[in-house]
Amino acid sequence: MAQQLVGKLALVTGAGSGIGRSTCRVLRDYGARVIAGDRNLNAAEETAKELGDRGEYYDVFPLEIDVSSMESVTNAVAKTCKQFNTAPSIVVNSAGITRDGYLLKMPERDYDDVYSVNLKGTFMVTQQFAKAMIEHQTKGGSIINLSSIVAKMNNIGQANYAATKAGVISFTEVASKEFGKFSIRVNAILPGYINTPMVAVVPDKIKEQVVMRCPLGRLGDPSEIAEVIAFLASDKSSYVNGASIEVTGGLK
Ligand SMILES: NC(=O)c1ccc[n+]([C@@H]2O[C@H](COP(=O)([O-])OP(=O)(O)OC[C@H]3O[C@@H](n4cnc5c(N)ncnc54)[C@H](O)[C@@H]3O)[C@@H](O)[C@H]2O)c1
Repeated sequence: MAQQLVGKLALVTGAGSGIGRSTCRVLRDYGARVIAGDRNLNAAEETAKELGDRGEYYDVFPLEIDVSSMESVTNAVAKTCKQFNTAPSIVVNSAGITRDGYLLKMPERDYDDVYSVNLKGTFMVTQQFAKAMIEHQTKGGSIINLSSIVAKMNNIGQANYAATKAGVISFTEVASKEFGKFSIRVNAILPGYINTPMVAVVPDKIKEQVVMRCPLGRLGDPSEIAEVIAFLASDKSSYVNGASIEVTGGLK
């Protein structure tokens, strides 16, 4: 396997499940050392154990981080920089939640919770880890934000989620313009429907409709998102900046 990420240190949030866990595996397989960050420390430890137990690599380190708390994010930055004596040059914002419901019945709490994790969490992790990259003069930084095709499809019942994921696209573009001078690239990925615990709770009827509308006729596998993340993390994408890449099997 190509080792295009050898010598790089990566932080992945939401690493205890789904796309985040798969991303840890793929980045590790390409040679990176990976910090598996999640609010659920047991799940992050499970990711590290699963990957560590598989072969010769012991390069996945669990980290507790709640991306919706500035205190937790700054603690995570301090802990990481102390442990590795540098800042990660790759940051993947994969932590995300849904609280679906019709707009007229949506509790304010469900709006706030989704905002706090998906959009404000992306802001806090990006801001604090980018500061650390700049302080440590990290070369060739790459930040990858998980948006969603829902930002463009705007499904009913997802006013909170769709708004945050559309926000992630704009946020990514602004960050890419501000960080270019520090050689830090910032890009977003818009996955379609991917087989993870997040999609497991979507009613079967909706999933069948999605599969019918998808030109490839199936849901995606988390590894198919992780491979694109690995490309954006590597120097192979050195001129890709401020992009929003759809990975949906052609679903629009
Ligand atoms: N699965 C899909 O079809 C799909 C499609 C489009 C976009 N996405 C996005 O991709 C990302 C990953 O989704 P997934 O399907 O792997 O979800 P998932 O539910 O399988 O995993 C999400 C992980 O994020 C963690 N998390 C939640 N809140 C957190 C917080 N405050 N701080 C730190 N960690 C937290 C959870 O503990 C969990 O381990 C999300 O941002 C999601 O919105 C997923």
